[in-house]
Amino acid sequence: MSLLELKGIKKTYLLGNPVFGKRKSVEAIKSISLTMEEGVCLGLVGESGSGKSTLGKIILGLEKPDQGEVWFQGKSLYCLKAKELKELRRNLQVVFQDCYSSVNPRLTIGEIIAEPLRNYERLTSVQEKKKVQELLEIVGLCPEDIRKYPYQFSGGQLQRINIARAIALKPKLIILDEAVSALDVLVQVQILNLLAQLKEEFQLSYLFISHDLQAVNYIADRLAVMYNGEVVEWLDDLEQLERLKHPVSKKLLSSVLPPYPGIL
Ligand SMILES: Nc1ncnc2c1ncn2[C@@H]1O[C@H](COP(=O)(O)OP(=O)(O)OP(=O)(O)O)[C@@H](O)[C@H]1O
Ligand SMILES: [Mg+2]
Repeated sequence: MSLLELKGIKKTYLLGNPVFGKRKSVEAIKSISLTMEEGVCLGLVGESGSGKSTLGKIILGLEKPDQGEVWFQGKSLYCLKAKELKELRRNLQVVFQDCYSSVNPRLTIGEIIAEPLRNYERLTSVQEKKKVQELLEIVGLCPEDIRKYPYQFSGGQLQRINIARAIALKPKLIILDEAVSALDVLVQVQILNLLAQLKEEFQLSYLFISHDLQAVNYIADRLAVMYNGEVVEWLDDLEQLERLKHPVSKKLLSSVLPPYPGIL
């Protein structure tokens, strides 16, 4: 059984107000079917506007496709009762690019990381504190940070906090949507190393969405290239990046600083 299966996903957005004439439409996802196995990091690359984030949102259930099905852990997301869907969702987490807007600035780091635990596990306040402090240590921060607020952290540290929250429930799949793109290169490497280490330690699977083939090459096991709402190329072995044929893949490849791969 595959961890994730997308079958014939299509999504069109309608733009403009129908009162003021004909609405324009944007085909964000034309037709996508793909399968992801457990323990794998699938890199999803493509130019801006190619539909990567839309696909991520559909998997997370934040957007509904016009057509198609999302199967996760052998169950179709659109055939589940609310309670079953909630249980399934604990295995599906996300880390977005903007680490600042992903956290509520009024909450302490302890409250931010505890949010999924409060939704799914009934822990006493002592157990919760212990768990949050363990998570802070796992992502390379100090247990004392539990009492601090988001403004007291750098972007890289805040992204570690977002990662701590994402792994709190030991999910099966984490969608990383441009999760390192806003960070400077050295911090990117540190976060990518942390993600690689967590993947092994907790048997995680990642959908690593990025426009940066270099970062994808650093962490992903497989690669899907998106263009205009479709997957136009698929690579099972990232050692063979030079085999990429599609013009858009070549364009992404040529934007990688030489010498690729492994410059990071
Ligand atoms: N809520 C929305 N309403 C209308 N159009 C949208 C919406 N979300 C996305 N789109 C459009 O769908 C297309 C795909 O957008 P999407 O955000 O998925 O691209 P992306 O590959 O993630 O781009 P980027 O690399 O810039 O993040 C774009 O043309 C975008 O303008
Ligand atoms: Mg995007």
